Amino acid sequence: MTGSHLVWRQLFDRESSTYTYLLGDAQSRVALLIDPVAGQEEQYLRLLSELGLTLSYALDTHVHADHVTALGTLRELTGCTTLLGEQSQVACVSRTFKDGDVIVVGDIALQALYTPGHTDDSYSFYWQSELGDLLFTGDTLLIRGTGRTDFQNGDARAQYHSLQRLLELPETTWVLPAHDYKGWTRSTLAEEKAHNPRLQVADAEEYARLMASLNLPHPAMMDVAVPANRGCGLTGS
Ligand code: FE2
Repeated sequence: MTGSHLVWRQLFDRESSTYTYLLGDAQSRVALLIDPVAGQEEQYLRLLSELGLTLSYALDTHVHADHVTALGTLRELTGCTTLLGEQSQVACVSRTFKDGDVIVVGDIALQALYTPGHTDDSYSFYWQSELGDLLFTGDTLLIRGTGRTDFQNGDARAQYHSLQRLLELPETTWVLPAHDYKGWTRSTLAEEKAHNPRLQVADAEEYARLMASLNLPHPAMMDVAVPANRGCGLTGS
C-alpha cells in the first residue's frame, strides 16, 4: 500500500512467523524497520533499494525469544541507527527510547508506548498516519491473542494494564502485531475488543488466572535467541 507520502510494507519471516514492518517517507526517501529478522537482511535491502529508500532506523519492540534480530547486521550494512527501549539494557544499540518518546523519520512520527507484561521491555508504537491510526503492538496484543507472560520477566497483571492502555486509543486503530501463526495479517482495536478471547476478562486477576492456565511449551529458539539478541544479533560480539 502506498499513500501519497507513506510507503509501508508488512514482511513475513516464515520460520518464526514474525512480521517486520517497513515504513518509508516517499518524499524525503527515508525509512525505518520494526522487528527485522536475521537472515532476511538481503530481502530488506533489496526492497529498500527498489523503493528508493534509505534506512535511517531499525528498532525492536522488545528483546525477542523466538528469532535473532537483524539490528546489528543492518547497522553494519547500512549505517542505520538501532533502537531498543531503555528497559532492554542492551548496550550495543545506538540509542534507547522510553515511554512517550517520539521516533521521527521524515514525516513518520512513532510514539513509543511502554507496554510491559509479555516482557519487562515491551513497547508498542502508535502513529496517526494518513492511512489511519497505526499501532505496532509487538507481542503485547496479537490478533485474537496476546503474548505469553511466563518468561523474560513477563507479568500477566502488568500486561493486563498495558492492554487497557492500548484499548483507550481510537477503536478504528489498525493493530499490527509482531507475529501471527494463523495467517491473520492485521486487525483493529474494535475487532480485538469484541473477539479477542484474552480481552474478555473482568480484571487483572482474571487475566492472570487465564494466562497461568495456558501451559505453553518452552520456545524452541529461546536459549539461542535471547543471548544473541543481547548482542544485537551479531555472533561473537
Ligand atoms: Fe516476544
